[in-house]
Amino acid sequence: MREFLVAGNWKMNGSAAGNEALVSGIVKGTPDGVGYRMLVCPPFAYLSSVAGLLKGSNIALGAQNVSQFDSGAYTGEISPSMLKDVGCEFVIVGHSERRAMFGESNEIVAAKFVAAQGAGLLPILCVGETLEQREAGTTEQVIDAQLDAVLDAAGIGAFEQAVIAYEPVWAIGTGKTATPEQAQAVHLHIRKRLAGHDGELAGRVQILYGGSMKGDNAPGLLGMPDIDGGLIGGASLKANDFLAIAAAAARD
Ligand code: 13P
Repeated sequence: MREFLVAGNWKMNGSAAGNEALVSGIVKGTPDGVGYRMLVCPPFAYLSSVAGLLKGSNIALGAQNVSQFDSGAYTGEISPSMLKDVGCEFVIVGHSERRAMFGESNEIVAAKFVAAQGAGLLPILCVGETLEQREAGTTEQVIDAQLDAVLDAAGIGAFEQAVIAYEPVWAIGTGKTATPEQAQAVHLHIRKRLAGHDGELAGRVQILYGGSMKGDNAPGLLGMPDIDGGLIGGASLKANDFLAIAAAAARD
């Protein structure tokens, strides 16, 4: 059975004092139960300090972005090995905000995915359609192109050490959530696309849902057969909200 991953993407939020309160609240309130893991992804500036705050817990640390380059004259960039060095296990690649606002193409995202894995990080590959694309009936095509760029660059075997997050752009930060059925349909499509390359491996890949996930809609979403956790923005910034989602993922 696939484990759940409950991942918080803090985006560009936080402060030294605020992070301390948030992380200590999460660590103290981690729900009993098995079959799930928690992850927090703070901004780069706080990775080291949050790594310290997480010591002794089994909550994992991840970054929100990474350079596709290893080292050198790339002012302002952060390399995969640096993330590994400060204690990251995961890194988000291809978040829709990076695609839309920072010009990350499918090819750049694929290069970041490959570079992250090269340093021993687990990439969380984000895919998802905009409202216009959904209304035009091109959701599956858009997601296929996003997935195929990575499959071409890294090969199906790379998904043994990676996570996928389906994040419909229209559901991010809008309070509009995909219904469990809408999300499940896309998750199943993603799994089938991977299964076209390797059916056994496809059955093991964690596929998270992201987009206005909250404590009250988490049980319905996590109850779907192909939804293996959440990539949570707004609700990961308050310990109790984040813990409510973790509680929905915890099994007896
Ligand atoms: P919200 O949970 O705030 O909608 O954000 C989702 C997201 O983009 C996580 O990466």
